Amino acid sequence: MTRHATIAGVGSSLPPRLVPNTWFEGFVDTNDEWIRDRTGIEARHFADAEVQTSDLAVEAARGALESAGVAPEQLDMIVVATISGDTVFPATAVWVQRKLGVSCPSFDINAACSGFSYGLSAAAAFITAGMADTILLIGAEIFSRIIDYTDRGTCILFGDGAGAAVVRASEVAGIEGSVLGADGNAAEILWMPAGGTRTPASADTVAANDHTVRMPNGREVFKRAVTEMAAACRELLEKSGHTIDDVDVLIPHQANARIMSAVVDRLGIDPAKAVVDVAEVGNTSAASIPIALDRAWRAGTIGQGDLVLFASFGAGLTWGATLVRWTLPSPDGQTSSAPAGTTA
Ligand code: ACO
Repeated sequence: MTRHATIAGVGSSLPPRLVPNTWFEGFVDTNDEWIRDRTGIEARHFADAEVQTSDLAVEAARGALESAGVAPEQLDMIVVATISGDTVFPATAVWVQRKLGVSCPSFDINAACSGFSYGLSAAAAFITAGMADTILLIGAEIFSRIIDYTDRGTCILFGDGAGAAVVRASEVAGIEGSVLGADGNAAEILWMPAGGTRTPASADTVAANDHTVRMPNGREVFKRAVTEMAAACRELLEKSGHTIDDVDVLIPHQANARIMSAVVDRLGIDPAKAVVDVAEVGNTSAASIPIALDRAWRAGTIGQGDLVLFASFGAGLTWGATLVRWTLPSPDGQTSSAPAGTTA
């Protein structure tokens, strides 16, 4: 029998502190109307100072484990997608492992906002290769600690949070396939310049705010995001023998409402099938797709048997698309789904 992988449980965690757009008006030249119009963001969640990325990750993981009916001891592997981890090393995955009190191989994936797509592909590959049966995949970020609060072009975009999925071996093909891509030639349009071996941390790098997110050309990021997400989705649909009409739910990376709307247009998918929760969550990078997924599943937007398409794009540049046949029953036992709309 062919060995497949499926999403067996999902969970998410958003820190309670909700930061409205107006908060930024106190220290940068911006306003609520500009942020809503240009990004669709109304608020984002920021973690309190004592909270670590691994804390949000563990909370999301507990929800995913519970919905999958899996005990932490059953995990064969922990994978965390993050670019704002607890420490440069070791991996945030090992802090998560320690907090869950388990022992299994654990590592991070650094693919920025595409981290969850890269992670799903890796998890499915480990499972179909027979190297693991049960993998905990988490996207977790505390971007509020790595943004430049003097840069109005970036500080208003991001939020904190975590989303998790338990990926398990299955007889049916839950994770049907993926397409991944990267273009390092454009790396410096979205990056953190200092803190690595290229430019080690020094008093000068700290004074220059070079340990924060830099995006010198937001328009180019916008264009590339739309082009690559739409192209990856098209390529994947063709490879998998599906058409866009077969897709029941689209979960794009929650970067910006205008980016998502342009991707929806290019794909020619019914906008009501797109899950959009950027208004109250902001851009949570690697956590954005699993947070939107968990919230959509709990809201009854995704039902058993639905074909779900993920589309991601982020620093690297990196991008990806994944097709998942949803096998997890609804939390209330329903099997049919409500339209996605904008209220995941
Ligand atoms: N408030 C008010 N004005 C602002 C703000 C702000 N927060 N930010 C930028 N502006 C100003 C600019 O300074 C510029 O002013 P100028 O004309 O006097 O120079 C003006 O608005 C237009 O700037 P643009 O950058 O051209 O504005 P644009 O309409 O492209 O919107 C934005 C900027 C929202 C950043 C957009 O480019 C974007 O969304 N890019 C994608 C970025 C993104 O999502 N990055 C996240 C990581 S990647 C990912 O997740 C996909």
